Amino acid sequence: MLKVVAAEKPFWDVPAEGYIFLLPQDFQISKDLKHVQEYYPHLERVLKRHKFTGKKGQQFALTAVRDEKLVQFLFLGLGKLEGVWHEELEKLRRVVGSAVLTMKRRTIADAVVRVPRSKPFGVNTQELAKQIATAAGMADYEFITFKTDKKDKERKATLHLVADKDISNAIGEAQILIDSINTIRQLVDMPANVVTPTYMANFAKKMAKKRGLKCKVIERAEAEKLGMGGFCAVDVGSDQDGKFIVLEYQVAKSAPTIALVGKGVTFDTGGISLKPSQYMKGMKYDMASSAAVLGAMDVIAQLKPKVNVVSVTPMVENMPSGKATRQDDIVTFMNGKTSEIESTDAEGRLILADALVYVEKMFKPDVIVDSATLTGACPVALGHYFSGLMTKDEALAKELVECGKATGDRVWPLPLHDDFKRAIRSDVADIVNSGIRAYGGQTITAGWFLAHFVEKTPWAHLDIAGTASDVPDISYVGKGATGASLRLFVEYVMRYKKKKSK
Ligand code: BES
Ligand code: ZN
Ligand code: ZN
Repeated sequence: MLKVVAAEKPFWDVPAEGYIFLLPQDFQISKDLKHVQEYYPHLERVLKRHKFTGKKGQQFALTAVRDEKLVQFLFLGLGKLEGVWHEELEKLRRVVGSAVLTMKRRTIADAVVRVPRSKPFGVNTQELAKQIATAAGMADYEFITFKTDKKDKERKATLHLVADKDISNAIGEAQILIDSINTIRQLVDMPANVVTPTYMANFAKKMAKKRGLKCKVIERAEAEKLGMGGFCAVDVGSDQDGKFIVLEYQVAKSAPTIALVGKGVTFDTGGISLKPSQYMKGMKYDMASSAAVLGAMDVIAQLKPKVNVVSVTPMVENMPSGKATRQDDIVTFMNGKTSEIESTDAEGRLILADALVYVEKMFKPDVIVDSATLTGACPVALGHYFSGLMTKDEALAKELVECGKATGDRVWPLPLHDDFKRAIRSDVADIVNSGIRAYGGQTITAGWFLAHFVEKTPWAHLDIAGTASDVPDISYVGKGATGASLRLFVEYVMRYKKKKSK
């Protein structure tokens, strides 16, 4: 476990095993590495010989004896820092991520790093410190819950951040974020024989109690009474009880309300439309959005913005069985609309439909944002570095894109255009739950399905099927669950407060 702290002393006064230097390509030895030169008078030649120029991604290490202890100097290249601010910020996160991985590999228990000059990153020193700390904390995550030899990997480490401004609040916020992100990543990585809807409901209840949030878990019988035909149709095939979790953070009755909705399928076999086994692998990740929403609520409860936030996370397991929903079945949702079931594997939109209707009806929120590992087509279109963003509200789209740039939890718009609307028409019900093949655009037609369940509230839909897990080449994200949508949601909520209180 890595703890990130604001250093209480100047850089060289922090007693550490590692001294980390984040160096732009134009760094000056006499200025940036003066003290190192005292240990290595020929530093310039040494760096030259090893071709360390500060180029992006370069790494180099030296060892020295300092106060009779062995210390390591770790040099990392930041590149030219001439790019657009959010690209530089993301690059910095990755450099920090590799620094943390190197710390781990070299078993450095405490290290110190200076927050670089903030200008190229488009944020102030505090925000930059927060981004560095968050990336460091995320890089430290490993899913070792079920490894019996994990003792070795559980070693404690500390990273001290030095800045020329007070960054203690920023680091405090980062620590809250890190704890929640890594907790929910673990939830997402844990297999479905452990993480059932009941497990998720208990997690939410415990968290709500700890943070003073209102928590309500709607059981299947009540969901039936409420007319949640979509939720029940997916739940009915499993021996696990579905749970419809509602959390409320209320700061003031008069404050605006943001609604967050997250798909929670603890395992997606496809149901009767059973997935071939190579596509079923990884379907424990199908509750990633619900975990991100719960994690965001955990953070929000601690950061206490001046805006109300309510979350709805329907939890089910999508299984085939003698009781399971069939193809051709027709279900009726909470708002009275009907859908033909063309594929029981398009289950996410069925549970989300009722979640959207419920949240709009019960809370009359000012805005709704949902997240879902909704379609395999999304990573085909966008790959693994951007979540799909669908909304008709341009201002909302712009805001979410900005939040993505600021946090690294990035989103890219897809057209929720009227041309796709007819792709979910049905001969026998109001709509059908899988888009007519000829239209293509399965990610968009899934978005259109959801659009039928939001009546008048500004609403955006995020498809995180590609970003929730197994994203290659991002050092601070690593293997398995990424925590996608959590940072984005928190940022969106924290910014919303500022705008409304003007
Ligand atoms: N959970 C899947 C989507 C998914 C696929 C997430 C791959 C992550 C990786 C979803 O429930 C699903 O199966 N969607 C179908 C919809 C289709 C039947 C209309 C899909 O994308 O194939
Ligand atoms: Zn499915
Ligand atoms: Zn699914």
